Amino acid sequence: MSELQSLVEETVQVYRDRFGSEPEWVAAAPGRVNLIGEHIDYNDGFVMPMAINRYVVIAGGHCEGAAANLYSVNLDDAAAVPLDATARPRAMHWTNYLRGVIALFAGKGYVVPGFNAVVQSNVPTGGGLSSSAALEVATATLLESATGITMDPVEKALLCQQAEHEFAGVPCGIMDQFSSVLCEQNHVLLLDCRSRTFEQVPFMNEDVSVLITNSGVKHELSDGEYALRRKQCEDAALALQTESLRDVNLADLLKQKDAMDQTIFQRAHHVITEIARTIAASEAMKTGQWNRLGQLMYESHESLSTDFEVSCKELDLLVKIARKTEGVIGSRMTGGGFGGCTVTLVNSEHLDDAMAAIAAGYSAETNIQPAMFATHPSQGAHQVAMTAAAS
Ligand code: GLA
Repeated sequence: MSELQSLVEETVQVYRDRFGSEPEWVAAAPGRVNLIGEHIDYNDGFVMPMAINRYVVIAGGHCEGAAANLYSVNLDDAAAVPLDATARPRAMHWTNYLRGVIALFAGKGYVVPGFNAVVQSNVPTGGGLSSSAALEVATATLLESATGITMDPVEKALLCQQAEHEFAGVPCGIMDQFSSVLCEQNHVLLLDCRSRTFEQVPFMNEDVSVLITNSGVKHELSDGEYALRRKQCEDAALALQTESLRDVNLADLLKQKDAMDQTIFQRAHHVITEIARTIAASEAMKTGQWNRLGQLMYESHESLSTDFEVSCKELDLLVKIARKTEGVIGSRMTGGGFGGCTVTLVNSEHLDDAMAAIAAGYSAETNIQPAMFATHPSQGAHQVAMTAAAS
């Protein structure tokens, strides 16, 4: 049985125990890992994420009354959430992600019926793998079943992003929610964040594994620094007299170097080179040039560390160790930064040894045993057929 099937079965069982009936709907939505194209979504460029085999699963069914009665298995906590468009977030509460999606659904004029639901997740939290986007997208997917409405996927992802902005207070770009909605098994998503169009690029090479390594640290400055990076990119675009860094080429940036504030120049330098790297990476993947892809990942990390300054010593150390490890093709920090995870491409035949070597090297210097898992490009959000859930 797959990890997702077990998670579904467990969640359905908790629903039965708690509410005394079979759930009518089950929704699943994955976390994501970004292979390349970091801090690019809010700069109108290209990103290349894939869904990971870690999911949020929600089992639900109708109930009397105008509320959603929610139970989180992970937190062992129950809460009732209103179903109308006027709902507001509660300070630092786990239900905010669901509250936001429900309120925005209602705001579109969709009538959400009263329902019971059990939520369970195996997406690691706080590691930059988009556990919150997975929760929002799973909620939207459950609501599609509950209301009988099928949303346009782009509209659904944007609604979930809005929930993150307004109910979790995080000014994220579009990558995480789009990944959770749109990713397909055995494919990475090449997403053009300006036009919101995308291409599914096949990734079917069993000889290459995607390894996720959690540094085990999350530096507190991450929220404020994220907003600051967005502002600095806007300032850079202003200094370059353009609406978006997407429209600037490297030669034009270099001509302006002396006239620009040095920090703002560095931010723009990362964005412009990273967009080019992401396009090159998609070509490398399409043509099976894995070493080229790996090289671009190392360059991406270097640029995030020195130009964009969103890495930290733990992430730099993980990449440095990976680079010296036999079988590793490429490695970089992934997600917003200041801690969280690295993503590493490894020759599958060396995977076990590489995991052991990276863990040993990292814990020798930090005393942290990193959580690690290998994943493959997984299926995006979907409704789980009830026959599958009940079997
Ligand atoms: C976070 C945000 C995304 C994206 C990444 C950096 O994950 O939620 O929108 O900006 O950081 O690439």
